[in-house]
Amino acid sequence: MKRTTYAGLVNEDLIGQEVVLKGWVQKRRDLGGLIFIELRDREGIVQLVFSEEFGKDALAVADKLRGEYVVEARGKVVARADKEINPKMKTGKIEVDITEAKILAASKTPPFYIEDGINVSEDLKLKYRYLDLRRPEMQANILLRNRIIQSIHSFFDGEGFIDIETPTLTKSTPEGARDYLVPSRVYPGQFYALPQSPQQFKQMLMGAGFDKYYQIARCYRDEDLRGDRQPEFTQIDMEMSFADQEEIMDVTEGFIAKVMKDAMGKDVKLPFKRMDWDESMARFGTDQPDVRFGMELKDLSDIMKDVDFKVFSGAVKDGGQVKAIAVPGGAEKYSRKDLDQFAKYVERFCAKGLAWLKVTEDSFNGPIAKFFKDADLRAKILEKADAKPGDLLLFAADNSRIVADTLAYLRVEIAKEQNMIDESKFAFLWIVNWPLFHWDVDLKRYVAAHHPFTMPNEDDVHYLMNDDEDPHKAYAQSYDIILNGLELGGGSIRIHTRALQERMFKALGFTKESAEAQFGYFLNALDYGFPPHGGLAIGLDRFVRLLADRDNIRDVIAFPKNSKAVEPLTSAPSPVANKQLDDLGIFVADQDKKQ
Ligand code: AMO
Ligand code: AMP
Repeated sequence: MKRTTYAGLVNEDLIGQEVVLKGWVQKRRDLGGLIFIELRDREGIVQLVFSEEFGKDALAVADKLRGEYVVEARGKVVARADKEINPKMKTGKIEVDITEAKILAASKTPPFYIEDGINVSEDLKLKYRYLDLRRPEMQANILLRNRIIQSIHSFFDGEGFIDIETPTLTKSTPEGARDYLVPSRVYPGQFYALPQSPQQFKQMLMGAGFDKYYQIARCYRDEDLRGDRQPEFTQIDMEMSFADQEEIMDVTEGFIAKVMKDAMGKDVKLPFKRMDWDESMARFGTDQPDVRFGMELKDLSDIMKDVDFKVFSGAVKDGGQVKAIAVPGGAEKYSRKDLDQFAKYVERFCAKGLAWLKVTEDSFNGPIAKFFKDADLRAKILEKADAKPGDLLLFAADNSRIVADTLAYLRVEIAKEQNMIDESKFAFLWIVNWPLFHWDVDLKRYVAAHHPFTMPNEDDVHYLMNDDEDPHKAYAQSYDIILNGLELGGGSIRIHTRALQERMFKALGFTKESAEAQFGYFLNALDYGFPPHGGLAIGLDRFVRLLADRDNIRDVIAFPKNSKAVEPLTSAPSPVANKQLDDLGIFVADQDKKQ
């Protein structure tokens, strides 16, 4: 029997025609002599009807069918009687009277229901991922991902970009996240690294004259996992020669608009809004702000520097800040217990506490209200904080980083809790004018804010080139694209001369020798006429996740890792045979981990 159409595509146009369908048994209802089977395939579900009248042998087959059996069936499409119409089903107006059927494969009872919205542990779902992926919502996610990928290829091809693959066995580099290493058998004790991105290779391709490159590239980073991070993930990676920041942002917007149209049928308004990094940090406390709602951070340092409440005045005197958010109507909504919980939570950002005030008609309420008896002072605070009676003011007083982290977190948590976010909106935003460096509090040194190949702003190049200036004051020609408060992608114009690249490594703390040892090949390449160039990469998984409206990028990756970097279907990672380790010249210190 050759399939004539998909179960989910049988519609009223086919009434009276014979169809051959193949798929899985979603549900079986036996009414004695009359059996209904819901048949499922990737396009949806259709109802099959088995009875002696339509086919005696087929009815006998239906008798044996159970959930997830694979079956093929031939039959005639008929209209359902009015009272049998199921408006909830796409195919609810028709059914198929089966004349012939055959079981293609039996199935054990699955460990969970193959239907949407099941409440099952992630690990069980991932262990039986082939079953999990049969569920309609998962099929829809993977099909959406495919539509997005096809749209990307068509866009870049149309714009004259060349799809070029870059290696996945490559050299470990010291900057960035931790590498996944692959031992070399031929050179015991030496390792390849899986690429964190194709960054250096795409720059080499610009040096090689390919001019416009793109790739849907797999990347690997051994970092702490979260809902929007996987150890292996996919980037939509691109690079252009002779293009400035504007042109790269333009191409990016064009491709995003096309994907939104092709995959979602949505028109997005171009150009996207832009915000300087400094402004984003000041107003939202983060460089990936969700701009679908207000409740912005307000700087009250000036007002608080002389108040009697020492937590506030002390913080300002120590060179820190006092900032606040005003939660509309929050005075009623939050109890002291809720606020204690918030305070406990923000300890993770090293916040020493969370001061709050409830705004009443003519006063403030709360444990620190006694410091704000002066009506003029209160009026100034309300004006600066953009607050009114009934609001709750939440304050952070500390250095700028702790203040930003604390209030940025509270702003989003509270907005989610209070349904302040219009979930139907797609708020794209560029963050531009980044600093070239960030101070890394854990490493206690400057690191590249984007990566070490990023070009400083033209006016700031002198900070790097002159020995008597501070390179860390420089701003960069880099740009991130944010969607609904999540970093979707980022890029920059690149350094294309050896002299400036050497200065950049120096500013990152490399000696001449260590830069040569780690990046000598890259510096040498720049000796041979590299064109000015720049590019960007977008996280495909994050993009699909946001368009599919899911919480975790796992849901849009066919075979993802769990939150502990394990792939439960195959149980990777796993120990290997001693012989394999011996071949690689590897000795595992913890013998228990050997097989
Ligand atoms: P960057 O490191 O900002 O830039 O990465 C680009 C985008 O990749 C996505 N991403 C991830 N997605 C899932 N899991 C992860 N662990 C993960 N890490 C990053 C994010 C991020 O915005 N080579 C540069 C780009 C360039 O300059 O052209 C780069 O890799 O969406
Ligand atoms: P205390 O004077 O320590 O009893 O604190 C009074 C209030 O200020 C409490 O609600 C604390 O949580 C809060 N608080 C203490 N330190 C800070 C800080 N650095 N920033 C914001 N609030 C704080």
